[in-house]
Order: sequence, then C-alpha cells, then structure tokens
Amino acid sequence: MTPPAADPLAELRAVVARRLGLEVTEAQGDRLRLALAAAEAATGLPPGQVAAGLLHRHWGEPAWQAAISELTVQETCFMRHRPWLDRIAQVVRAQIAPRGERTLRVWSAACATGEEAWSLAMLGRQVVDDTGGGTVDVTATDLSTRALAAARKGCYGAWTMRDLLPVERARWFRPDGRRWQVGPDLRAMVRFAPFNLAQPEDPHAPFPRGPFDLIVCRNVLMYLTPAARTLAIRHLLAALAPGGILAVSPAEAVAAWYRPLTPLSFPEAILFQRDVAAPIPAAPPAAAVQPPVAPVAPGPVVSRPIAARPSASPPPDLQAIRALGDQGMLDAARLALAPLAAGDNLDANLLLAMICSEAGALDEGMAAARRAVYLAPGSAAAQFAQGLLQARRGATTRARRNLDGVLALLEGEADETMLCAVLDLDAGTIRQAARRLLNELAGDDRGAGMATDAA
Ligand SMILES: C[S@@+](CC[C@H](N)C(=O)[O-])C[C@H]1O[C@@H](n2cnc3c(N)ncnc32)[C@H](O)[C@@H]1O
Repeated sequence: MTPPAADPLAELRAVVARRLGLEVTEAQGDRLRLALAAAEAATGLPPGQVAAGLLHRHWGEPAWQAAISELTVQETCFMRHRPWLDRIAQVVRAQIAPRGERTLRVWSAACATGEEAWSLAMLGRQVVDDTGGGTVDVTATDLSTRALAAARKGCYGAWTMRDLLPVERARWFRPDGRRWQVGPDLRAMVRFAPFNLAQPEDPHAPFPRGPFDLIVCRNVLMYLTPAARTLAIRHLLAALAPGGILAVSPAEAVAAWYRPLTPLSFPEAILFQRDVAAPIPAAPPAAAVQPPVAPVAPGPVVSRPIAARPSASPPPDLQAIRALGDQGMLDAARLALAPLAAGDNLDANLLLAMICSEAGALDEGMAAARRAVYLAPGSAAAQFAQGLLQARRGATTRARRNLDGVLALLEGEADETMLCAVLDLDAGTIRQAARRLLNELAGDDRGAGMATDAA
C-alpha cells in the first residue's frame, strides 16, 4: 500500500518546533508557506524534501536562516516600554549597590536587531555610574543571524529611535546621513553572538558565559513550544548570578515557569529574582555540549494537530495570568494563555474565553469556549462561557440554548460547589449569572421583537 502523501507544511512545522523550538500555529500558515518557499529557494530541494533537508542542517546555515526570517517576529525598538526598563534599572541598582561590584553583566537573550541590547547598555552605564562606577558588559544573542548582522552594524533610522531622549541620542550616537550610528562608547559595552534558546548545548553557538546580574528575555518565550520553553528557562536560570534578575514581558510572567525564582511584582513589570542562597538546578555546563549538529534521528517528521498535543510544560500558573487580566493587562493575559489553551487545558480555555469576552476579542473567546465545551461537555462553567460569548456575538438563540443547558446541568447542585477555581465560579454564581443573562436576552428580544439568529 502506498503511504499517504506527506504535507510539506506540516512536516516543516514539526521540524521548526524540533530545531528552533518555535510553535507555529495553524493560523500562522502563511508564515510557514513563506518559510517553505524561502528554504526551497535556498536548498534547491522540492517542497516535499525541504523539511527533511533542514532537519540535518545546522540552524545557522543559510537555508535555515532564510526560513527563520519568515518565521520570527523581529519587532523591537530602542527603550521599548521605558517604564518597564526603568523599573528593572531601579531593581538592579538596589541589588548591586551594596555589593560594590565593579562589573554589571547583562544578557539580552533575544535581542533581534540590537535595540534592546544597546538600550540595556545605556541604562547599565547609568546604574553603574550611580553606584560608584565600573564596567558594563552586555552579551546579546539571537537566533537570526540576519538580525544580528543589522545589530552589529548599529546604524538605525528615526522610527526605531522614537523613544530615545534627545540627550541619549546625542550622547551615544553619531549622525550618519539621515540615520544614526552607534558610537564607540556604546559599542564597547555590547557584543553579539548567535544563540538558539531551544538548542542551548551547541558548540557552534555556545551558551553565553554567565553568571549574569540581569537577563532580559523578552517577547520570545511566548513563541516557543512548552518543551523548548522549559529547556530554555532551565538554562536561563542556571546563568543567573545569585541575587540576579530575570526580566520577561508581562505576557510571559507566569511564576510557575521560573520556579524557584522569586517573583517581584511592580505596576510596570513582574521580575524574577534568584535567591542569594537558594541553589538553582544546574543546567549542563557549556563544556558538556553535544556534537556539532544535534544528532537528530533521520526518521519521518511527524506533525500532530495542535489541539491534540499533550502539554510538556510545568503546571501553568493560571492565577498569575488571571492577575494580569484583573490588572487590566488583557492582551498580555491572552498571549500567555494561548499556548496553554491550545494544549487542551480546560481552565486555561475557560479563563481565555472570559478574558476575551472582556477584551471584545469575540472570535478568539468563542474558539476557547468551544474548546472548553469539547473538553468537558458536562461542565456548567464551559456551557456558561459559550453562552456568554454567543450572547456577546448577538447569537441569542444559541446563547439561550447554552444558558438553559447551564441551568439544567446545575439542577440539584449546591450553590457553594466550586466549579471553576481559577475563575472563582461556584454553582450559585454561575446559576445567577446564567439567569441574569437569560433575562437580558429576553429583554433584548422584546425590544427587537424577534430572535437575532436562526440557529
Ligand atoms: C519580538 S523579537 C524580541 C526583541 C526584543 N527582545 C524585544 O522585546 O524588543 C523576538 C526575537 O526572538 C528571536 N528568537 C525566536 N526564536 C528564538 C530562539 N529559539 N532562540 C533565540 N532567539 C529566538 C527572533 O529571532 C526575534 O529576534
């Protein structure tokens, strides 16, 4: 019997997850198609052989890099989210001042085209000067060698420099036509190197030598598969100096991911600090690395549907994500929830449905509610989430059907029975909310004189 024809895109998705740790969702099919075309052009292989061809090449090779340019988001700018950076600078200053250390060591662990690394060097200089002087040493790494080439060139236009103060631009840059060139004082503090967070033990792109007082790994962990994220975080933690700070974006600030670091919560940032005394489980030292190209078994590349994937991540800290939502950081909470929800976590889907409903992201919320109902058809919380989303979308007949279902499911259930801890929803609360919503829908119908969907 002839085996079924392989799907080149599904194969590429699987190889990308395995070698780069990047989670490419079904919705990002266009990126994958562009990456396939770019790698096809670079390898000269037909589409059906591109994934297998890439599997055995190092990620630094041109064919991979062509694909990486299509697959990664390079969005960044100088002093991105300045209040977030200012808070980090304040915490690091308080941390290093009593130690009287002469060198501040920083790692920008996905620096894209360099703006973050240069910004950290400027802030680091300020911190060190405020605490008695010394040197600043910024290691900046990224998966994309094209982005790193731009970073090393250090020549930038006005748009990416929009959040720099004129005094900063004048101090650290030289005009270069209509652009600006990084000056020698800034350049002396930063060095760039390729590094794949999903393949930390790679002699061609070795693990940066720590320990670091500050590691900034922003807007990259959220793009990784749970397995790659876990591996990357284990290495980041091992590279932190005692007392050192790990800074991630709010969307990635899920405390459980960084245990045993201590979360430090501020209005502008949630940071994670390594205790001075507590040991961190050791990641393998740089010397104990694998052979050049990680030996990957040549077998067929298998892609699994995203919704069926069992999550390899640590138990998600949904309370921390909920806290983000409660603080109004709805987009951050949605981003943090997306991979957990795709990994078939019921509570994550319920939380995502509710947050999306609040954020007005009704299609995304509906998809999460449907997943929740699919995962637990007998859950009143899931039926309620779906009813709520249907109501928000104006599908009143369907909403009513869900909400009637909620009341039926809750018949005889004691009010205090907890049905969804992460949302604090007990049976009584859901029952009341379902009744209220049904009344509102009935009022709408009376006003409009008819139901708005034909179900
Ligand atoms: C959105 S940029 C983040 C830039 C910067 N950290 C910021 O927040 O402004 C994401 C970067 O992560 C890099 N990246 C993606 N996967 C990576 C991996 N497995 N290892 C290292 N870097 C990776 C991409 O090349 C891209 O430059």
